Amino acid sequence: MQAQQTNSKMQLLSQCAAGTPAGEVLRQFWHPIATAESVRAGEAKSIRILGEDLTLYRGESGAPYLVGGLCAHRRTLLHTGWVQGESIRCIYHGWRYDGSGQCREAPAEGEAIAAKAKIPGYAVTQYCGLIFAYMGKGAAPEFDLPRKGAFEKPGLVVLARKQIWPCNWFQMVENSLDAVHVSFVHLAGKVGPFGEAVTSGIPQLEYHETDAGIRQVATRAANNIRISDWSFPNNNHIVTPGRSKQSAWVHRGVWNVPVDDHHTMKIGVYAIPSEGPEKDRETLEHFERYGDYNPAHHHDALFNEKKWPDDPSLQLTPAQDYVAIMGQGRLVDRNAERLGTSDAGIVLLRRIFWREMDKIHRGEAVKQWRRLEEPVDLPVQGAAE
Ligand code: FES
Ligand SMILES: [Fe+2]
Repeated sequence: MQAQQTNSKMQLLSQCAAGTPAGEVLRQFWHPIATAESVRAGEAKSIRILGEDLTLYRGESGAPYLVGGLCAHRRTLLHTGWVQGESIRCIYHGWRYDGSGQCREAPAEGEAIAAKAKIPGYAVTQYCGLIFAYMGKGAAPEFDLPRKGAFEKPGLVVLARKQIWPCNWFQMVENSLDAVHVSFVHLAGKVGPFGEAVTSGIPQLEYHETDAGIRQVATRAANNIRISDWSFPNNNHIVTPGRSKQSAWVHRGVWNVPVDDHHTMKIGVYAIPSEGPEKDRETLEHFERYGDYNPAHHHDALFNEKKWPDDPSLQLTPAQDYVAIMGQGRLVDRNAERLGTSDAGIVLLRRIFWREMDKIHRGEAVKQWRRLEEPVDLPVQGAAE
């Protein structure tokens, strides 16, 4: 009985659909759902987020909208239709929807039928080259928690990237709160400046809950302390070395957004301190060349041939994480784990999720997560040397 209860409690962590406890927790937050450049004015795309099939389109004004994936009439895919003004018209019989999902016109039916037809429509906003959506009930919260002062400073080159991995979102979130993995996963092979900065020493770990999520401190030496601020429910803010030893460190925000229970969108921002026009052009070229790498497209080469990609920061690091996380399976069996003391971050993470799920289940107010007023300087100086 006990084992079964534990099993179902563990399983709850991996679900994202509406009506599931974790799915309802996730729906209280803004999530990045696409890079801003992935959809142009007048274009529509089909996307799946939190297990829901959706249509992402930009009106002719350039404003983004997120509505249901299927037309209310006879359920064909809406993105195959036409964007007209700020609306989208279905290809099949021409029903036209506004950005809230309300049908405004059903040409072969008339106004009464159109007025009653509504598909989902969600609030969207753009930030740092990403399109964010709020898929919860009621009014969207203020767009505050996803923001980071480090992304908004002058003199930054801000680039957004995304990739989709074929595994459950929660094991990708857990990886963010597992500092020990860095000493192993990211030291294998050729790792460039990151490997020089993050030594193979086993860090001393501290995790504590903050207003925004969990602060993680991994101390490898007095001058090598790696700190990250993880924000509930799925964002990590880290700093990583730049392209070369001389380059300034890069602030990165990475969100692990469930596509469904077996696919996760790893989407985020690189905030790169400008090094002048010449060097910035090289950085852009570097991203152009290596930034669209997705380890999922090289699954067999990574697992069967141990063939690692060349570029340390944009390719090798995600490939290493991919092998470790996908090696757990698409959905890890947490009941069969043997956690140790170094898994304190994962234990804290799960406790917080269960606590928030319980609050929703009991109809109690959930924690009001807030952006940190004074985010820590990440990491302490000296770590890069
Ligand atoms: S299925 Fe969309 S208008 Fe008929
Ligand atoms: Fe990693």
